[in-house]
Amino acid sequence: MSSWSAEPSADAPVPGPRPKPALALLVPALAGCVVSLGVGVYGHVHHPTGVAVNLAGFSGPLAAKAWLTTAAAVLGVVQAVSASVMYGKLAFLGTPAWISGLHRWSGRLAFVAAVPVAMQCLYALGYQDYSTRVLVHSLLGCAFFGVFTAKMLVLTRRDAPSWAVPLLGGLVFAVLIAIWFTSSYWFFSNFGIKK
Ligand code: HEM
Repeated sequence: MSSWSAEPSADAPVPGPRPKPALALLVPALAGCVVSLGVGVYGHVHHPTGVAVNLAGFSGPLAAKAWLTTAAAVLGVVQAVSASVMYGKLAFLGTPAWISGLHRWSGRLAFVAAVPVAMQCLYALGYQDYSTRVLVHSLLGCAFFGVFTAKMLVLTRRDAPSWAVPLLGGLVFAVLIAIWFTSSYWFFSNFGIKK
């Protein structure tokens, strides 16, 4: 005798709210825009204080900033490589158990290295446009925090499309490397590779 059952069969689609990928990205995208704009507006309206703090072991504040940014960029490379391993894009390396730990910690350390530099930029120098390099650097600095915010928010959204995290992670990495070129690279090529 056949029976009617309210139980869905194993291969029936699970009922529930349909994922809305656009909506899952909307809040992180808006939050990222607000953060970038907020940083830019603050940098523009705030009167630059010119305050600079040196770190022990460096010849001056500029050198300290250039090296901290370089540390963040190198950790950013570790992030990009470890993410590629996690997504199986470097199959010859396999997927070691420690790779996600390496990814998390390199990200945290990159942030710790970059944030004091960015705070000094914002508070002491502000948003400036007196040369193309400085304009591009200021814009990238603002973009960095917006894209970073969006990536962190998308990480917590289970309904986000699978391409969103790699796309935003790649953007954070690209912006960080571009910031390195418009600041540390400029510093090292003008003043030499000194501490
Ligand atoms: C992750 C974020 C950031 C990093 C790692 C970073 C890094 C650096 C470094 C290493 C320097 C010193 C080298 C140089 O003088 O060019 C610098 C300078 C500077 N930064 Fe940033 N920065 C960041 C964000 C920002 C933001 C958000 C702004 C403004 C909105 C900004 C504006 C400036 C300006 C105006 C200079 C001086 C450029 C010059 O006169 O040479 N930066 N930054």
